[in-house]
Amino acid sequence: MLLCITRSKVFGDTGYPNRPSAAVNAAMYHQKHSVINHRLTKERGRNMAEIRLVNIVKRFGKLEAVKKLNLEIADREFLVLLGPSGCGKTTTLRSIAGLEAVDEGEIWIDNKIVNELRASERDIAFVFQLYALYPHLTVYKNISFPLETQGMNKKDIDKSVMDVAGILKIEHILKKKPSALSGGDMQRVALGRSMVRRPKAFLMDEPIGTLDAKFREVMRTELKRLHIDIGATTVYVTHDQVEAMSMGDRIAVMKEGVMHQVGKPEEVYDNPVNLFVANFIGSPGMNFIDVVCAKSDHNTKAVLSSNKEVCFQFSKEVYNRLEEKRAFSKKLVLGIRPEWIRIEKKKTENLVPAEIYVIEPLGPSKIVDLKVGNDIIKARTGADFEVGIGDRVWIELIEKKVHFFDKQSGNAL
Ligand SMILES: Nc1ncnc2c1ncn2[C@@H]1O[C@H](COP(=O)(O)OP(=O)(O)OP(=O)(O)O)[C@@H](O)[C@H]1O
Ligand SMILES: [Mg+2]
Repeated sequence: MLLCITRSKVFGDTGYPNRPSAAVNAAMYHQKHSVINHRLTKERGRNMAEIRLVNIVKRFGKLEAVKKLNLEIADREFLVLLGPSGCGKTTTLRSIAGLEAVDEGEIWIDNKIVNELRASERDIAFVFQLYALYPHLTVYKNISFPLETQGMNKKDIDKSVMDVAGILKIEHILKKKPSALSGGDMQRVALGRSMVRRPKAFLMDEPIGTLDAKFREVMRTELKRLHIDIGATTVYVTHDQVEAMSMGDRIAVMKEGVMHQVGKPEEVYDNPVNLFVANFIGSPGMNFIDVVCAKSDHNTKAVLSSNKEVCFQFSKEVYNRLEEKRAFSKKLVLGIRPEWIRIEKKKTENLVPAEIYVIEPLGPSKIVDLKVGNDIIKARTGADFEVGIGDRVWIELIEKKVHFFDKQSGNAL
């Protein structure tokens, strides 16, 4: 059975004309489903799910919202689907849930193709951005509702609700009505309602997107801890890369319906496959400098396209890398993350002159914008790094952290 918690606080529309309305979702919610007589425990290894998407395509008229997408989500994994607005995250999630029928491809849950199964038969919980709790029911009743509709006996219901309330730390609000709750508590209750049935997997669509920044941090930790405790397969949608980096076992980065990269947070951060991923992950994103590389003895000179007087020197290793890819003399983009730029205040041989353009103190560190040639790049420094606007400095790009991308294709070399 699929548990739907609708996007809107009132049982209103879902934001898209031909998506099931909240009323339909609520009806699904009431649908008869198999009695689940196991209780929520912290025991692992039961009722978990592996999800596999094979070449899925979803079209809305002429728009191809999801394009030949492949993705495997392991049992108990917390996978974050990350990408900018409109890239197809929700559509992918809804396709897994069975709320959208895909036009092509296969959706596997465990060892079964579920394309033909209705949402209510997939045993997955879907948690939306804003929670629709039943306003006239207490928190306890909101959570117990799915079990009551299954005809579970009162004693087992009580045990299940109390287990869930214990995990979510909401025992003290069980008698309250939703109108008396804070946003965060409402969200915990909604999670409780989706957890109480022990679904095979959780699909979460920006579940903390509407909370304020401070509270999002708290919920991020709580959701992560919750996943560690109950270990259920989770696909979590967000467009916030910090959320993705901090929560995901792996991150799947999408753009315009295409999956660009799937990997552990550090893999995606350290080895982005293209300019889009390099820029989307990280705050600030990776710096990009247009260059053309030339050979100098057996070393490499990366000459700035914006000012041919300025160049960075690299060693033989970079030379070999570029030679292997036949990248000399081609238009390239040099990529470097802000934390891998070293700044010297005194003139130092082989370092490149730059000018301090803007300084952004962030508390624990500073972001220093540097004018190099006619490019502006961002460096991260310690909080105690003292410079003034307009100061002349010398910079080094830490060579082993330098990336090169083909300017035309955007792909990493
Ligand atoms: N029911 C629909 N009818 C027509 N177009 C739709 C429908 N659902 C989604 N789309 C379109 O498909 C594309 C992908 O939408 P989707 O909601 O999956 O994006 P998203 O990544 O979840 O974006 P956001 O971060 O804004 O929620 C968008 O161009 C959207 O307008
Ligand atoms: Mg969405």
